[in-house]
Amino acid sequence: MKRILSLSLCCAAMFFSACGAPKTKTIKIGVSMPTQREERWVRDLEQFRREASGRGVEILAQISDNDAARQLAQCENLLAQKIDVLIVAPHDAAAASPIVEKAHRQGVKVISYDRLILNADVDLYVSFDNVKVGEIQGRYLSRLVPKGRYVILAGAPTDNNAKLFRQGAMNILQPLIDRGDIKVLMDQPVKDWQPIEAMNLMENALMAADGKVDAVLAPNDGTAGGVIQALSLRKLAGKVPVTGQDAELAGAKRIVEGTQSMTVFKDTRMLATAAFEAALKLAAGQDVETASKVPNGKIDVPSLLLEPIAVDRANIDKVLVDGGYLPKKEVYE
Ligand code: BGC
Repeated sequence: MKRILSLSLCCAAMFFSACGAPKTKTIKIGVSMPTQREERWVRDLEQFRREASGRGVEILAQISDNDAARQLAQCENLLAQKIDVLIVAPHDAAAASPIVEKAHRQGVKVISYDRLILNADVDLYVSFDNVKVGEIQGRYLSRLVPKGRYVILAGAPTDNNAKLFRQGAMNILQPLIDRGDIKVLMDQPVKDWQPIEAMNLMENALMAADGKVDAVLAPNDGTAGGVIQALSLRKLAGKVPVTGQDAELAGAKRIVEGTQSMTVFKDTRMLATAAFEAALKLAAGQDVETASKVPNGKIDVPSLLLEPIAVDRANIDKVLVDGGYLPKKEVYE
């Protein structure tokens, strides 16, 4: 009897670590990012890793570099590594739906991160109020230039966010266009959000309008950078208001020097933390409480939507520097 007891105690010990606590399985979170070209996506990933460190969580990250087929293959690879939950920021909203199907076949839940995956049974969407992002940009620009000749650029057509940003901006600008106060000189999407594409479009617009452009709606800081390069070739940088988004260091510097009017700050630290906490819950089979739903063509996806903030010269120190997002020395360098 004694021997049986000591044997069973010995077996039990195999399931407990040296300190006596039950051995918990390491949670594996797969993270599939579209790119690391923009600073914000680098920060998102850094925040995931910061959250995971010391918490028994492993982050398995893949970068698809703006390639939908590669993103699918990379997600298959993550699933083969037996991840517990998958976080995907899709390069191509529509082409990403098989990722969700494949994950579900393996019993893995999927969080659509920042960008919505369309036509799929996405388990959770964690993002910002993206229509509001566009409204902030449209309102800011139209207050600076209530009447004038506008260049309107949108983000990548493959990104559902680009559609939402534009929708928001047009909520504000369309009435002014209809009234004839705003004349649209150009209205174009920017392939893959590439700054060089934005620069080329802006050069074309300036050429066609003989330099007479009054305002530019640039959808993010990357494209704003391209636009401002084109403006500076004609000595117009700082004279034509340009919007942005992401609170990138380069964008913040341009705001301080006066060549970019504003940016929209979306705190990637808060976003990644929200997605990380939700991922842990989903991995444990728990529900995540959500206040919103966003339709994706197939279902109304339960959504956590954070608030974007307008930043310009007046509040850049308070929001970005005091908030610890960007170091003052670098912004004002
Ligand atoms: C993100 C933006 C980013 C853009 C380009 C969008 O989906 O919401 O923050 O600037 O993609 O990467």
